[in-house]
Amino acid sequence: MTPDQQDVYEPPQNIIDDAWIQDWRAVEAAAAADPQGYWAERASELQWSHPWDKVLDDSEAPFYKWFTGARTNIVSNAIDRHLTTARRNKLALIWVGEDTSKVRTFSYFSLNREVEQMANILKAMGVEKGDVVTIYLPRIPEIFFAMLAAAKIGAVHSVIFAGYSSEALSTRIDDSESKVVITADGSWVNGKVFPLKKIVDEAVRFSPTVENVIVVRNTETPVTMDSVRDHWYHELARLPIAKGHCPTVQVDAEDPLFILYTSGSTGKPKAILHTHGGYQVGTYTTLRYSFDIKEEDRWWCTADPGWITGHSYLVYGPLLNGATVLMAEGNPTYPYPDIWWQLIEHYGVTGFYTAPTAIRTLMRFGDAWVTKHDLSSLRLLGSVGEPINPEAWRWFHHVVGGDRCPIIDTWWQTETGMFQITTVPTMDQKPGSAGRPVFGQQAAVVDEAGDEVPVGTEGFLVLRNPWPAMMRTLFKDPERYRQTYWAKYPGLYLTGDSARQDEDGYFWIIGRTDDVIKVSGHRLGTAEVESALVSHPAVVEAAVIGLPHDVKGNSIHCSVILANGFSPSKELEEELRNHVAETLSPIAKPDGFDFPEKLPKTRSGKIMRRVLRARALGQDEGDLSTLENS
Ligand code: WT7
Repeated sequence: MTPDQQDVYEPPQNIIDDAWIQDWRAVEAAAAADPQGYWAERASELQWSHPWDKVLDDSEAPFYKWFTGARTNIVSNAIDRHLTTARRNKLALIWVGEDTSKVRTFSYFSLNREVEQMANILKAMGVEKGDVVTIYLPRIPEIFFAMLAAAKIGAVHSVIFAGYSSEALSTRIDDSESKVVITADGSWVNGKVFPLKKIVDEAVRFSPTVENVIVVRNTETPVTMDSVRDHWYHELARLPIAKGHCPTVQVDAEDPLFILYTSGSTGKPKAILHTHGGYQVGTYTTLRYSFDIKEEDRWWCTADPGWITGHSYLVYGPLLNGATVLMAEGNPTYPYPDIWWQLIEHYGVTGFYTAPTAIRTLMRFGDAWVTKHDLSSLRLLGSVGEPINPEAWRWFHHVVGGDRCPIIDTWWQTETGMFQITTVPTMDQKPGSAGRPVFGQQAAVVDEAGDEVPVGTEGFLVLRNPWPAMMRTLFKDPERYRQTYWAKYPGLYLTGDSARQDEDGYFWIIGRTDDVIKVSGHRLGTAEVESALVSHPAVVEAAVIGLPHDVKGNSIHCSVILANGFSPSKELEEELRNHVAETLSPIAKPDGFDFPEKLPKTRSGKIMRRVLRARALGQDEGDLSTLENS
């Protein structure tokens, strides 16, 4: 047993008494004995306009299908079914601007009105079932409306984080062949305007597919409008076509709901595809029975809808559970590092789900910023995106949660759609461990050959069972889906993470085993950063690695071979940093640089990142026998 495993926090009795699932061991055992039965029961808690023939169809594995033959629409369950109950007048969404005096609230009834209006407009523009709608919006209510409106009419949404550059945006728009883009004039970032519309203009200038751009007025900053292509949303909303009831189209359970681009080992982002039926069951179930969300909860997930966490646990999961969601436009330290605690106090937040990097950032400002607020409304805390270090865990538990609130650490991925490994609130919590597989799932740690390693040994984390909210494929690239996730160990889903398991069956995630790094919880491919670097005239070749960082988890370190006529300088580093921010995204801004004569490569030409890491950290470079020219 390693020392950290002895640090155990027992669940408070009141949490156990009120929990949906008081005896998690019993549910875990029952679901393990009959996973499909477990998922069928959960699915029956939602509405389907036609029942399924089969819970799981694995006849074309790894292209698994769930609830085949069923008809439904996630919007029927996220909105429509609440309208015939008392929830109709319940708050669905509370939105708070970066300027916190700006607040907009929507009951389920009024959320529905907004979604119908956006859906009517999309239909009038000719958007049909299966068409991809690109959404490039900041954290404003319209991002909820846009996602739900697309889903309502059977279209497929593709949300692009509103911090990506025009180049990244145009690649994704072209890849998905979107005809419509929904954006805003700008977004507020720490008191300044980030020019979204301008970025869209550059991104769609040569687009062969985009016919219409819908622009939400948000920052009220001047923008250029193309008289044919561009439309103000508030003007469209006044037209007769926007008015009236818009029925929710019933689709096949396996029809696509959205694609979401995420980073992989190569420079080309992967378009993860999720479907209506399984995804609604998975996100509904995990938020309810793993996170223990309740009718009376005020739920705040700080993630941006541009990422999977925002999709699953800011937009869909909470609405599927009929909860009240808070969405904040601003960042955690603007204008002061207690803005989040102020919002929790003011709005009586009960469930607070955020990322370790944010916790570490806020922790650095000291306890006083937290303790001056009354956070007694909090019941449950959650963590996602990267391993949470025990120190940050304890601070979150003690200072923010007042020692009352279990921390639900949730390990999952864009690909998995829903939690896969978590500490449910009635379970003992171990700071730094993501816990146990969700009900119905089995995880394992295996070696290179696919054999399970002994307890306490590090290895590759794999998942054994298919699950309803799993991605179905990579959009337009099924072969890459099979290769990336299912080829190494047939029948096992390869997560790309390393982990170890302890003797209580808890999993301890160590990190990625591929060329993906998590920087402030954001997922980046080193290849993406490298290709941004080599697009600068000073750079001939670049190799990017992640180095440990106290707040960000990983920092981005670049080894750069300069072109003739360029020499290393602080100015050049700053220029390269800005170049990456502009060509990829500010979230990918490199931290450190070195400028070697050549990169360490194997004889077959593969960059030895292990050597770069050792050099950057001033450590022993280890075995160099495979190095070319060694
Ligand atoms: C990768 C997936 C899933 C929502 C956000 C990230 C890392 C995620 C945890 C956690 C340790 C975690 C893994 C995973 N990760 N959650 N609780 N503990 N590591 O989704 O951007 O697709 O990234 O994030 O490395 O593979 P994503």
